[in-house]
Amino acid sequence: MQTLISTDVDQAAEFLRKGAIIGMPTETVYGLAGNAFDPAAVASIFTVKQRPAFNPLIVHLAGMDRVNDVAREIPAVAEALMRQFWPGPLTLLLPVRSNVPETITAGKPTVAVRVPAHPMALALLEKTEFPLVAPSANPFGAISPTRAAHVVQFFQGRIPFVLDGGACRRGIESTIVGFPDGEPALYRLGAIPLEALEALTGPLRLFASAGTSPDAPGMLLRHYAPETPLILTDDPAATVRDHDGQRIGLLRYREALASGLVHREIVLSPKGSLQEAAAALYDSLHQLDNFNLDVIIAERFPDRDLGRTLNDRLRRAGKAR
Ligand code: TXA
Ligand code: MG
Repeated sequence: MQTLISTDVDQAAEFLRKGAIIGMPTETVYGLAGNAFDPAAVASIFTVKQRPAFNPLIVHLAGMDRVNDVAREIPAVAEALMRQFWPGPLTLLLPVRSNVPETITAGKPTVAVRVPAHPMALALLEKTEFPLVAPSANPFGAISPTRAAHVVQFFQGRIPFVLDGGACRRGIESTIVGFPDGEPALYRLGAIPLEALEALTGPLRLFASAGTSPDAPGMLLRHYAPETPLILTDDPAATVRDHDGQRIGLLRYREALASGLVHREIVLSPKGSLQEAAAALYDSLHQLDNFNLDVIIAERFPDRDLGRTLNDRLRRAGKAR
């Protein structure tokens, strides 16, 4: 199978109507998209991604007015969150309607939904008239793709089409909020900072995860990981010295270390913007992973705002295999 890369939204919709799964841009990361109401398409997403069946999928909708197509009930606080953050990188877990294939929810009583803020994704959702399930378009456990080329690198020849929407503006997955017992709780840190949510909800409970819990596999201990071993550190200079003699890749937030011991160094945001750093993080990890390094050393971000999300991803990227 030849994988076509194109900006043609009509052609993308045509593939989806025929039951194919395709790469789709969103503002967060690229998704591996299929018709949510076509069980065969849903099944092939799990196969192509090598995703365990216990890990449910996010349903992407054309607008807030479509939530009732898949959800039975909307808590008042969920509605307030939608009004403030949609279209955008916030996923909500809502009581699922019985017409939604069980493979999407992995048999859970809730369905994950969001309205993406990428103009091409929205145009595609308008055209197909069915919702699209889309996990991040990476093999299970790998770094999420933020460019069409990443999707092709992962799935060349295994999917017919990637809709090219350029580099993802946010570069990090959506934040996930659920409502166990009717009260909001955080299931995954993401592109909407905790502080922004809490301004609306008040203090959010963290949905507890032992690290292997199938309840929120985005919280699995080892996830979002490059092939190269990764170390997260507060003291990059010292960690670099500790690895003298190895092929070292260094990922820094604002300033270069410019050490002769480092083989490749990437500075994410010289002006100190966490948003800019988030947008560049996965792309930089993809790049470093292609340099045949022994180790990637990453500097810890300030533990606030998006920095909290970035540290969360780097922590999981670095866990021992
Ligand atoms: O930004 C994003 O959310 C991207 C783009 C493509 O929209 N999608 C994404 O999907 O990150 P994925 O499948 O890689 O991660 C979705 C996470 C998984 O950790 C899954 O376990 C969790 O959402 N999830 C989905 N439905 C759930 C549910 N009913 N209850 C608990 N967690 C759920
Ligand atoms: Mg993912």
